[in-house]
Amino acid sequence: METKVYRWNPAEENGKTVAAAAAVLRGGGLAAIPTETVYGLGADGLNGAAVRRIFEAKGRPQDNPLILHVPDGTWLDRCCAAVPPLARRLAEAFWPGPLTMILPRAACVPDETTAGLDTVGVRCPDHPITRAIIAAADTPIAAPSANTSGRPSCTTAADVLEDMDGKIEVVVDGGSCAVGVESTILDLTVSPPRLLRPGGLPLEALEAVCGAVAVDPAVTRLMRPGEQPKAPGMKYRHYAPKAPVTVVAGVPERSADYIRTRLSSGEGVICFEEFRSFFAGVPVQSLGPAADKNEQARRVFDALRAFDGMQVTAIWAQCPDTTGLGLAVANRLKKAAGFHVIDADGEEARP
Ligand code: TXA
Ligand code: MG
Repeated sequence: METKVYRWNPAEENGKTVAAAAAVLRGGGLAAIPTETVYGLGADGLNGAAVRRIFEAKGRPQDNPLILHVPDGTWLDRCCAAVPPLARRLAEAFWPGPLTMILPRAACVPDETTAGLDTVGVRCPDHPITRAIIAAADTPIAAPSANTSGRPSCTTAADVLEDMDGKIEVVVDGGSCAVGVESTILDLTVSPPRLLRPGGLPLEALEAVCGAVAVDPAVTRLMRPGEQPKAPGMKYRHYAPKAPVTVVAGVPERSADYIRTRLSSGEGVICFEEFRSFFAGVPVQSLGPAADKNEQARRVFDALRAFDGMQVTAIWAQCPDTTGLGLAVANRLKKAAGFHVIDADGEEARP
């Protein structure tokens, strides 16, 4: 199959692109769409056959449900059997934006989308062309991250083509993703609400609206045998490089020093910009300045993706503290490392 690329131009009227992408989706096809977090691989979320094609294109495990994307908060009623007042308040406060809410699913949502669960994830992405495409298609769009399963998420149209060229009808190129890590997932079917995946909306911002928020154990540690995370996808690694990844947490000066003193030849490093000079002659990917978590979020998947093309025997990664967007950046690095984490401040392995 030939994959067509449509470029979004913010200075122009994009009516043709919107109509063409919407027509592909209405017809049961696959269109990669830009969002503020990462690119999504979209299909009509109410059409089971179309949704099955997403799983095939990605090589995605069947037990991993998809998020429905909507153009505004009024569509919550189209996707969900019940919408509590808190969900409406959160939509009002944070949509369009990087928040996915887990709610009871409406009868029209097929098992293919929810992987048989009685709940559904819903989010309104903050990218104008994608909201326009969904509104024109007039159906909620199921869209996982557009990467092949097991690879880092895609933050540019070029990343999407690397994984999906020839497998899908369309890629809508909407530029680089502004946030760079996936949405924050909040389960509103339990009380207090539960954070299932940290993401582009910081936990602190949610707490300011919801009060107490419980944090699912899968956010901070590896699941034990027999233990199931509430978000099935949290049990999978985003990135399974041949070389083992070690995440080094702690004050940036200490984590950089820890890595420098243990690094062997042939190994690669993901570090904060300030510490590049510690690793002269070493394959290095910069996460951006130690104090700039927005930049770290934008770069983390790119840094991981870059090592796929390099011959390194091990990868060391500096890791931010877990306040603000740091919780999501640290989570993505730790998942890539299979939660192999060293604390440079205490030098003990964390759980
Ligand atoms: O930012 C994002 O959320 C991106 C963009 C494209 O919107 N999408 C994304 O989708 O990250 P995906 O499929 O890569 O990750 C969705 C996560 C998975 O961990 C899945 O298990 C979880 O959401 N999930 C989906 N529906 C769920 C449900 N009903 N209950 C619990 N977890 C759910
Ligand atoms: Mg994903």
